[in-house]
Amino acid sequence: MAKKKLRVGLVGYGFMGRTHSNAFTSVSNFFDSGYTPELTAICARNGEKAKAFAEQWNYQSVETDWRKMIARDDIDLIDIASPNDTHKEIAIAAAEAGKMVMCEKPLGRNAAESAEMVAAVEKAGVANMVWYNYRRVPAVTLAKQLIDEGKLGRIFHYRAKFLQDWTISTDLPQGGEGLWRLDKDVAGSGVTGDLLAHCIDTALWLNGEIDTVTGTTETFIKERMHTLTGKMQKVTIDDASMFLARFANGSLATFEATRYARGHKALNTFEINGENGSIAWDLHDLHRLEFFDHSDEGLTRGWKTLHITDGDHPYMDKWWVPGLQIGYEHTFIHQVADFIKGLEDGTAPSPTFREAMATDVVTDAVLKSAETGAWESARN
Ligand SMILES: NC(=O)c1ccc[n+]([C@@H]2O[C@H](COP(=O)([O-])OP(=O)(O)OC[C@H]3O[C@@H](n4cnc5c(N)ncnc54)[C@H](O)[C@@H]3O)[C@@H](O)[C@H]2O)c1
Repeated sequence: MAKKKLRVGLVGYGFMGRTHSNAFTSVSNFFDSGYTPELTAICARNGEKAKAFAEQWNYQSVETDWRKMIARDDIDLIDIASPNDTHKEIAIAAAEAGKMVMCEKPLGRNAAESAEMVAAVEKAGVANMVWYNYRRVPAVTLAKQLIDEGKLGRIFHYRAKFLQDWTISTDLPQGGEGLWRLDKDVAGSGVTGDLLAHCIDTALWLNGEIDTVTGTTETFIKERMHTLTGKMQKVTIDDASMFLARFANGSLATFEATRYARGHKALNTFEINGENGSIAWDLHDLHRLEFFDHSDEGLTRGWKTLHITDGDHPYMDKWWVPGLQIGYEHTFIHQVADFIKGLEDGTAPSPTFREAMATDVVTDAVLKSAETGAWESARN
């Protein structure tokens, strides 16, 4: 039977534009499904650069205004891979035009924006998903399976970190192309919405809802030249953010993110301690899951390193032979594969906009707590 087309219109050709384009291009080569994505249009404001991107990735056409792309009737799915201040307007317009929507994280710059986006996709009844790709690292997906099977038993502790070091220089400007993450108006917040959002999404998925949080943030470099104005301006994003959390299941948690951890480029980790066992994962070694099983007996008991490359590990039957690893880009391919599976099954592909909004509710609570110094509710 002929496969249906999934005609994609992508907004943004930056870092995520490339990971998404690769995912849409590759998915049908590895995952069987009734849909084949087609790279129908790429949209970016700079027509020349967008054209060069279209040639490199085989997009059929170029748009410089996302409104025109959304108005086209030869596009089924709008994929948003542009900075955070663009997400809400594009997603709502796409939903109102009846398009499916995939959106990069964080969904909105805050939970209020996300709520409007959730309302729009739910009113339109269109398929929607947010690119929290770390859920689809096979080792992380396996961690979810082990927890759901009760291998850890009652959970006592959740510990997460996301550490980088790329903003330590005082000479680094803020704002504009490539540096929009340092501009609060565009990004919404600093590391809380950028890095901690990933940790929070993974934690909500693995360990359930967070009830309350108390946090603190710091902006180490107080002024930077703004690329768009050419002037020294106050820095308003959080450079570092830490918080304590109490989960609904009674466990206690610590979360930390910074762009000032010299030597660390993308150290995204979690460790979970339960009554019957513990698991730990580290993005730098993403194909391994550390596992301690308290029921192991004998002199060789202890932490085990599981190499997540066998055919019965999550997603791995679609790739090479046991022992051969996959990497970062595959998490995006898995995300598209699951989105398509949702279209076929009629199930909502997770995380939906509504599920991803929960992360923004927690990041809002962390930022509020950093101001009030109090414990704040992290529930909607
Ligand atoms: N899932 C992840 O792990 C992950 C990683 C990095 C970034 N992100 C998210 O992806 C999004 C994009 O981040 P990035 O690192 O790819 O940024 P980037 O700066 O590399 O690319 C952004 C792109 O958006 C384009 N753009 C900006 N405004 C636009 C507009 N109005 N219309 C059309 N195009 C526009 C820019 O020209 C650029 O091509 C952000 O929301 C970010 O938080 C997610």
